[in-house]
Amino acid sequence: MELHHRPRRLRGTAGLRRMVRETRLSPEALIYPVFVKTGTNIQEPIRSMEGHYRYSVDRLGVIFDELLSAGVTKVLFFGIPAGKDAEGSAAYQREGIIPMALRYTAQRYPELFRITDVCLCAYTNHGHCGILAGDQVDNDATLPYLAKIARSHAQAGAQMVAPSDMMDGRVGAIRTALDEGGYSGLPIMAYSAKYCSAFYGPFREAADSAPTSGDRKTYQMDYHNQQEGVRAALRDIKEGADIVMVKPALPYLDVIQKVTEQVDAPVAAYSVSGEYAMIKAAAREGFINEEEAVLESAVSVFRAGASVLISYFAPEIAQGIAQGRIG
Ligand code: PBG
Repeated sequence: MELHHRPRRLRGTAGLRRMVRETRLSPEALIYPVFVKTGTNIQEPIRSMEGHYRYSVDRLGVIFDELLSAGVTKVLFFGIPAGKDAEGSAAYQREGIIPMALRYTAQRYPELFRITDVCLCAYTNHGHCGILAGDQVDNDATLPYLAKIARSHAQAGAQMVAPSDMMDGRVGAIRTALDEGGYSGLPIMAYSAKYCSAFYGPFREAADSAPTSGDRKTYQMDYHNQQEGVRAALRDIKEGADIVMVKPALPYLDVIQKVTEQVDAPVAAYSVSGEYAMIKAAAREGFINEEEAVLESAVSVFRAGASVLISYFAPEIAQGIAQGRIG
């Protein structure tokens, strides 16, 4: 057989395959979400997210030691407060759960990079990401609250803030508040193309943040739209975002690719709780190999163009890189 092109020539050995890879990964690009809960001596398993726990501040060392030994050096904090009210006031208190976690981490684990989620949904008694006027989320009334949350995180030592609320104008409001507070050097990672997704289900159980009535369709994006995701990212950059995010990841690889092509900024992708739970459940049943599915999914996100990945599997991915299985 006279075949001019034989692509298998470059697939013959692991070394050759590695040499011609188009996608390279680094553990530096991984961020791990951590749920912190008010109280002491708490390490509570999250039913919907096998292998993840809600930790009180004094127990954070358990997970931090695991992360560092796997080579993961960046965490994204989500807080679970002691109490909730209509204005989510526990979200911006000086002694709130996130400031406490930040101070502990800065002091005990300075090698970990501290990012915080900025939103109201885990702190409001109605579970919406903003302040309500009647049964509607009031966009403009919410902005000062988000700015206050971001500023309280900055004061407690956050090294990056990540607004996930999806109010219009929130990046600009947060940027202004940070600049005025003396934090002009603090970067914002905006949840820019955040879709209204069924894949957040396990997270809402983890953070106890499901809306008590209605849904998030009036503020999170409609998943029929791709170009809107690009517009959202461009607008957030104009308002002062440093990194733009696409969320979820796997069902939105097209959006990751488009945003990467059309927006001149680093793009992060958030592989959300439902993506994690699906792999866990299928692996538990023996339907797929967990480690292989995790590594293949992670590579696909970087192949689509993302330069940062937020993942509940970050330690497994870092280990896969360290062992030369991917990257
Ligand atoms: C808060 C927030 C959510 C997630 C990140 N920040 C939940 C939501 O918007 O309902 C989801 C993360 C995940 O599912 O892993 N607004």
